[in-house]
Amino acid sequence: MKRVITYGTFDVLHYGHINLLKRARSYGDYLVVVLSSDEFNKIKNKQSYYPYEQRKIILEACRYVDLVVPEVNWEQKVDDIKKYYADIFVMGDDWRGKFDYLNNYCKVIYLDRTPDVCSTTTKQHLKSN
Ligand code: CTP
Repeated sequence: MKRVITYGTFDVLHYGHINLLKRARSYGDYLVVVLSSDEFNKIKNKQSYYPYEQRKIILEACRYVDLVVPEVNWEQKVDDIKKYYADIFVMGDDWRGKFDYLNNYCKVIYLDRTPDVCSTTTKQHLKSN
């Protein structure tokens, strides 16, 4: 069984997220999503519309997602890879190169982002309408 791990905030879930999750899951048989906690988002200067527990419920309802656990700091990735026996680490290519050091622990794959959609602009549009 191959396990895949990925990270993100996944606020106001959109089809770009689903594309990413579907492709991530297709690299293995089990997908762990490490979901940014509200506290960690503050550290990243992000504020989600939906709080962690609600984002988690939404992701857990997605057929490509097998497990959702919290992301609380930048340093936990190596421990997560070991803890969840991840064979493959997947991120969107906005992070290209940033996590190459994880190749020492598993295979690192960057996937092309889906163009023209992101949580930030969705929230801005909704606000202005
Ligand atoms: N992602 C993607 N295509 C998009 C948007 C996001 O493939 N159009 C991927 C990101 O590359 C990341 C994951 O989805 O691997 C979670 O990204 P996240 O930052 O939560 O989503 P964004 O929509 O980019 O959110 P924000 O606007 O808050 O940065």
